[in-house]
Amino acid sequence: MRTLHIGVLILDLSQGIKFDMKINEQSEKIPSEILKMTSLSQLEKFKALTKIRSDPIHVQNFWQIEEGDREIWTLELIKILFTANQTTYGIEFLFLTDSFSNSNFFSISNNLPTKQPKAFQSDSDCSSMTSYTPKNILITGAAGFIASHVANRLIRSYPDYKIVVLDKLDYCSNLKNLNPSKSSPNFKFVKGDIGSADLVNYLLITENIDTIMHFAAQTHVDNSFGNSFEFTKNNIYGTHVLLEACKVTRQIRRFIHVSTDEVYGETEEDAIVGNHEASQLLPTNPYSATKAGAEMLVMAYGRSYGLPVITTRGNNVYGPNQFPEKLIPKFILLAMRGKPLPIHGDGSNVRSYLYCEDVAEAFEVILHKGEVGHVYNIGTKKERRVIDVAKDMCKLFTMDPESSIKFVENRPFNDQRYFLDDEKLKSLGWSERTTWEEGLKKTMEWYTSNPDWWGDVSGALLPHPRMLVMPGGVERVVDVSENIQSDSPHAAVNPSQFRKVGPVTKTKPSFKFLIYGKTGWIGGLLGKLCEKQGIQYEYGKGRLENRSTVLEDIQKVKPTHVFNAAGVTGRPNVDWCESHKTETIRTNVSGTLTLADVCKDHGILMINFATGCIFEYDEKHPEGSGIGFKEEDTPNFTGSFYSKTKAMVEELLKDYDNVCTLRVRMPISSDLNNPRNFITKIARYDKVVNIPNSMTILDELLPISIEMAKRNLRGIWNFTNPGVVSHNEVLELYKKYINPEFKWTNFTLEEQARVIVAPRSNNELDMSKLKSEFPELLSIKESLVKYVFEPNKKL
Ligand SMILES: NC(=O)c1ccc[n+]([C@@H]2O[C@H](COP(=O)([O-])OP(=O)(O)OC[C@H]3O[C@@H](n4cnc5c(N)ncnc54)[C@H](O)[C@@H]3O)[C@@H](O)[C@H]2O)c1
Repeated sequence: MRTLHIGVLILDLSQGIKFDMKINEQSEKIPSEILKMTSLSQLEKFKALTKIRSDPIHVQNFWQIEEGDREIWTLELIKILFTANQTTYGIEFLFLTDSFSNSNFFSISNNLPTKQPKAFQSDSDCSSMTSYTPKNILITGAAGFIASHVANRLIRSYPDYKIVVLDKLDYCSNLKNLNPSKSSPNFKFVKGDIGSADLVNYLLITENIDTIMHFAAQTHVDNSFGNSFEFTKNNIYGTHVLLEACKVTRQIRRFIHVSTDEVYGETEEDAIVGNHEASQLLPTNPYSATKAGAEMLVMAYGRSYGLPVITTRGNNVYGPNQFPEKLIPKFILLAMRGKPLPIHGDGSNVRSYLYCEDVAEAFEVILHKGEVGHVYNIGTKKERRVIDVAKDMCKLFTMDPESSIKFVENRPFNDQRYFLDDEKLKSLGWSERTTWEEGLKKTMEWYTSNPDWWGDVSGALLPHPRMLVMPGGVERVVDVSENIQSDSPHAAVNPSQFRKVGPVTKTKPSFKFLIYGKTGWIGGLLGKLCEKQGIQYEYGKGRLENRSTVLEDIQKVKPTHVFNAAGVTGRPNVDWCESHKTETIRTNVSGTLTLADVCKDHGILMINFATGCIFEYDEKHPEGSGIGFKEEDTPNFTGSFYSKTKAMVEELLKDYDNVCTLRVRMPISSDLNNPRNFITKIARYDKVVNIPNSMTILDELLPISIEMAKRNLRGIWNFTNPGVVSHNEVLELYKKYINPEFKWTNFTLEEQARVIVAPRSNNELDMSKLKSEFPELLSIKESLVKYVFEPNKKL
C-alpha cells in the first residue's frame, strides 16, 4: 500500500475564495491528482478523486478560513474521505490564523495517526494495522533485565533481523544476560551511553537502523529517592538524544519507547477499573516522573516530526537476569542465604507481576503489530500484596514466614497499587502465558543454579541499599537492618540513624573540583569523569611545590574539593626515580605536603592519590593467605625510592585531618592502548613474574573517589578492588578475550631483579574498610571482566 498525499491546500478567504496548492516536500509526486478547488463545490471533484483511488489517503490542510466555513469544510472532507475510502487513515487540519502561523493545530481524532512525517520517508507500513517487518533494530539497555530477554528472543526467532545492542553496562547490567545471543551472526553489542549524540548518530547511520526499541534507563525507584539527577540524565536526556538522532538521520520507521505503569501514579485500593492508555499521567516518585517526562518528549517528536512512535507502559516484570536490588530476586538471594526478607512498610502494597518471557513476547507482538502513535499497557489483572510475595517465597524455600519476614521502614513514598487495563494489547493477540506459581518456581531455579551470576551483591540486598536523602536535608545511613522490627508492621525510626550532612539544605550541593595532574593518566580520567557527571572542575596551573602558585589557583577557582593526582611515578617506570631523587622529592614530598597545607588553611578536603606499593608480603601477611595489609599498618616496603617517598608522605599526612589518602595499586583501565595500564605493560613485556597482587580498576574506582569527596571522607583508605589476581590470571583473561594466540613466558623474582633497577612490591591490601562504605564494590576478578575485558572483547 502506498500513501497518497493530496497536497496542501491554502485558501485565503480574505481575498475571495482563492487557493493555492503545494505538494508537501516529502510526499510523492502525484501531478495528475492535484486537485484544484476554488470553492466549496470543488469538494465534489475531491469526492470523485477519492472514489477512483484505492490507496489510503492522507490529507494535510493548511487553511486560512473563517470560523463557520472551517467547520463546513472539515465535516465535508471527513464525510467524503470516510465514505469514499475505507482505508483512509488520517486527516489533519492545520488552521492558520494570522499570517499562516501554526496556530490551532488539531487532528480529527486521537486515534488517528498524527501528521504525516515531515522528517521521515513516506511509509504506509507505519500506519498499517498489519504486520511491520523491521530490518536493523537498535535495542538500548539490553545488558539489563527485560531487554536482554527481548533481544535474545528476537535474535533466536528472527535470524533475518540484525540486532544491535547499546548499553553502558551500568551496575545492574551483565553481559552474561546476552550469552544466548553472543555467537549469533545477527547480533552486535556496543558499549556506550545513549546520552552520547555522536555515538547514537553514528550507530544509526552505520548500522542502517530502521527500528529502535528503547529500554535503557535508571530503573530502581529506591535509588531515585537519592540521586534523582541520574534519573533525569539517563531517562529524560538520554531519550531526548535518541529522539534527536532519529530526527537528524531520518531513517527510523518504528521507535518503541518502553515506559512503565508507574507513570499513572497510584491506583485507588478499591478501584475495579484499571488505568486505560488514555488515563492521565500522575507520577509520584522521581523515577516515574522521569519516565513520564521521557514519554512527553517521545509524544512531541511523534507530533512535531512525525517520528513513528509507539509507547508501552508495563507492570512489574520478574524472572532470570534481574539485578537483585528488585524485590523478587532480592528475596530469592536472601532466602538462599537464610537471611530475613525485609518488607518496606506493612507489605500491604499491591503489585502486578509478569514473567519476563511473556513480556518479551508482548514486545515481539508490539514490534510487529503495534500501531504507530499508540500506547500499549503491558499488564496483568492478577495482583499480589508484597507480603504475599514474601510468604510465597517462604513456601518455596520452606522457611517459616513468622521468623523470616521482617518489616522495615517504608520508602519516602510507596504507591499502594498500579492497576492497568490490559485489553488493548490483548486485541493484538497477546496474552500472559505463565502462571505466578510457574514463573516464581522457574525464577527461583534459575537463581539457585546461577548463584554467582552477579558476583558480590551484598550491598544490593540491604533493605534500603543506598543513601536516601530525606526531606530536610537529613541523610539516612544506608543499612537499616539493625533497626528491623519483626513484631510491628510499621518499623520505628531510630533518631540515631540520622546524621546531619553538611549544611542543611534542600538544594543540590554544587561541587567544584580543582584537579592537579592534568597530563597524568588518573588526572586526565578524573576530568573526563567530572564532565560526564556534570561536575564543575578546573585543572590546577600552579606547581605543587610552589606555594604561591597553588594559593593563586585556590583563590581563583574557589574549589569545594582538591584532587591531587600529580606525582612523579617515573617514565617508563619507577626505576627513573632512583636516578632522579631530588625531582622525586620535590613533587612527591614537598609538593604534596604544600598542597595539603594550603588546603588545610582554606578548610578544603584534599583527595590524595597515593600508592599501596609501600607493603610487601611478610610473615604476618603471607602470599595467598588472604590476610591483607590494613589502613593502620606501617609500611614495610621501602625498596624503591619511589615507594620510600610515598611512605614518608603518607606518614606525615596523617596529621592533616583535611586529607583523604587513597592507596592505589597497579592501576588498570579499559583503555588497553594506554602504556601506563598494567595489562598493556605486562602484555608487552618479554617475560613476566607471576605473583598475586591487589590492583585498582580505575573505571570502577575513580567514580568512587568522586563519591568519597562528596561524602567528605577522610583518613587513609586502601583503594583497590577486593581480592588478588596474579599476572598469569590477567594474561589468561587477555588471551581469552583479546588475543587467543597470545603467549608469554614467566620468570622468577630473582630473574626479574636482574633486569630492573629498583625492587617492586607485591602485596594484598585488606579491603574491608572501602567495601563497607561501598558494598557494591566488585572483586578484582569480576571487575576486570566487567570493566576491562568484556568491553574490549575481540572474540
Ligand atoms: N523491571 C520492571 O519491572 C519494569 C516494569 C515496567 C517498565 N520497565 C522499564 O523497562 C526498561 C528496562 O527495565 P529493566 O528492569 O530491564 O532495567 P535494568 O535496570 O535491568 O536495565 C537497564 C539497562 O539500561 C542500561 N542503561 C542505563 N542508562 C543507560 C544509558 N544512559 N546508556 C546506555 N545504557 C544505559 C543499564 O546499563 C542496564 O543494562 C526501563 O525503561 C524500565 O523503566 C521496567
